[in-house]
Amino acid sequence: MLSQMGAEELPPAHPVRILMEEHDQLLGFLSELELAAAAARKSATGLEVGGTLRTSIHALALTLLDAEPHHQREEQGLFPRMERIGIEGPPHMMRMEHEILRAAKRSLAEQMSSDAPANEAFVAQLCRTTSDLVGTLRAHIQKENRILYPMALEALSAEDWREIATDCERIGPCSFSKWR
Ligand SMILES: [Fe+2]
Ligand SMILES: [Fe+2]
Repeated sequence: MLSQMGAEELPPAHPVRILMEEHDQLLGFLSELELAAAAARKSATGLEVGGTLRTSIHALALTLLDAEPHHQREEQGLFPRMERIGIEGPPHMMRMEHEILRAAKRSLAEQMSSDAPANEAFVAQLCRTTSDLVGTLRAHIQKENRILYPMALEALSAEDWREIATDCERIGPCSFSKWR
């Protein structure tokens, strides 16, 4: 059944397989981010300017921002072909979520690269942004994996997929992608 489709059922270079493999990597980064936020909640040591925790959360935020080519492949490659055949609602919702995610990732990176002291308000803001980001991105990935991608695989033609693959080649991988 399509809704239980796994990435391994698709050919290795299929645009959806690449997107799903990147989703798995993104889920791993989210777990790391969650652990880092939990550590910050327990003790703000390491969260001071130049501290190891602050540096590693900043690096994670930058890695998540590096998912931009992934979003571009969806927004410029996959979604327009779905919209062209009348599937407009789900891509519209995913585009809106991309905007929310971009803002949350930027805000996390900015907070970690600021020179603000690691006080209670700083930790509270970090925990809020992290929990919003983790929750929204996990749900987004689940919706794409379980609903949007299976819908696209069912509805789009071989010619559509050839066009999408060409767009994906042009846009290229994320810094963390195992593709290419
Ligand atoms: Fe997406
Ligand atoms: Fe995605």
